[in-house]
Amino acid sequence: MNVSIIGTGYVGLTTGVCLAYLGHKVTCLDNDERKIGLLRDGKTPIYEPYLTDLMADASPNLRFTTDPAEAIAGAEVVFIAVGTPPTPSGAPDLRYLQSAAESVGKYFSGNYMVVVNKSTVPIGSGNWVGTIVRESYSKHHGQKADHQFSVASNPEFLREGTALLDSLYPDRVVIGSDDARTLEVLYKLYRPLLDQTFAAPPYLPRPEAMGAVPLVSTDLASAELIKYAANAFLALKISYINEIGHLAERVGADIRQVARGIGLDQRIGNRFLQPGIGWGGSCFGKDTAALVATASEYAIGMQIVQAARSVNARQRDVVVDKLLAELKILKGRTIGILGLAFKPNTDDLREAPALDIARNLIERGCRVKAHDPVAMPNFEREHAGLGVTCCASALEVAEGADAVVLTTEWQEYRELDWNVIGEKMRSRILLDGRYALDRARVAVAGFKYISVAG
Ligand SMILES: NC(=O)c1ccc[n+]([C@@H]2O[C@H](COP(=O)([O-])OP(=O)(O)OC[C@H]3O[C@@H](n4cnc5c(N)ncnc54)[C@H](O)[C@@H]3O)[C@@H](O)[C@H]2O)c1
Repeated sequence: MNVSIIGTGYVGLTTGVCLAYLGHKVTCLDNDERKIGLLRDGKTPIYEPYLTDLMADASPNLRFTTDPAEAIAGAEVVFIAVGTPPTPSGAPDLRYLQSAAESVGKYFSGNYMVVVNKSTVPIGSGNWVGTIVRESYSKHHGQKADHQFSVASNPEFLREGTALLDSLYPDRVVIGSDDARTLEVLYKLYRPLLDQTFAAPPYLPRPEAMGAVPLVSTDLASAELIKYAANAFLALKISYINEIGHLAERVGADIRQVARGIGLDQRIGNRFLQPGIGWGGSCFGKDTAALVATASEYAIGMQIVQAARSVNARQRDVVVDKLLAELKILKGRTIGILGLAFKPNTDDLREAPALDIARNLIERGCRVKAHDPVAMPNFEREHAGLGVTCCASALEVAEGADAVVLTTEWQEYRELDWNVIGEKMRSRILLDGRYALDRARVAVAGFKYISVAG
């Protein structure tokens, strides 16, 4: 099928590359010329494991363009995968979505087409996008587009860092649509994925127990709500274990053992039950805020989600509180930060806890040095004004540091030789914000090991 993707960010590019790998003819559109230039050269503007490999394998079916006319005119399915960043009120900023929908209407050829919202959008956006496409088509073509296109919701559940595995081998595919023809088109599009009939790339093997992928077919509003409800649930699972962590610390319990003991219960499950400095990234903060904002339009308080958000915000302050308790005076201290990305295996810095922690420490008069294995270029480009000293290695971060904080659990930090790190530091204090390190191994190297709780 002929497919177009508007927006080649973490979601759009992954979707486009995977659909091209499945055999569809995919055109990826972005208005960022730098990104399209890189993609045309076979390079990816984001860091995502195996993305360059899959892109190379799918290249006969992939095109990249900045020209909306070229992308939209002949497409049978157009995915909208533009950003929906938060506004101060919590409601998402929909101007990129609006502009994408206007382009769809403007360049739509009139042959039947399905417009798919892949961006995470507030409930009701399906109807809204339909109206914009229709109005834009009438404005530019002087006639009505009724029945020539339809709008579907196909929320995305990938995790950065494992985006390709999540996309090729998803737990489910959710499609929200209010008519049978749309569902038929998207069923045809996703059939190889749903039936798992494609040859797995050797570098992304199919999970052993993988069967057919369940298709959850719903109305538009339900699909839109599924996305928010799923992210909010995962976010509150993390906040729940962090709240229990503070009690664990006070009563002398080990939160890691508590989390394991809880998570082995299959009704609960051990994923997203990792204590630490809390969630970051472009989704959980934004989507929980949007859920609260939407609910407030219906006079619903969403107390559980609000509580999860406050617990998460507090986790970042705890790091600074703990350093203050240990060092007594923060002014004039040098603090090293290991890891800037919001989680390992991505270069994404959006809402990364490390940024808030660094900002807070700098405001208290600390000198902050930081390193990240892949996010340094993004950090230098996007956060030059923060006042953090960028380092080429963990060892350079340690040089003269009064304490080091592990903020992102990259594998290379787990493997550090803490004797060598300790020799460079002014005092051997380590705050493990992710419970990622072997406490005993670090203690043997003479470190005082501190965790977020317990
Ligand atoms: N990143 C994730 O892990 C993730 C997971 C699930 C869902 N989502 C949702 O998917 C959506 C996209 O997220 P992302 O992280 O990929 O965003 P992103 O910021 O990485 O990518 C968005 C891209 O859209 C482009 N763009 C914006 N307006 C455009 C226009 N009018 N025409 C063409 N291109 C345009 C931008 O240049 C950018 O490259 C968001 O709604 C997000 O909430 C993200």
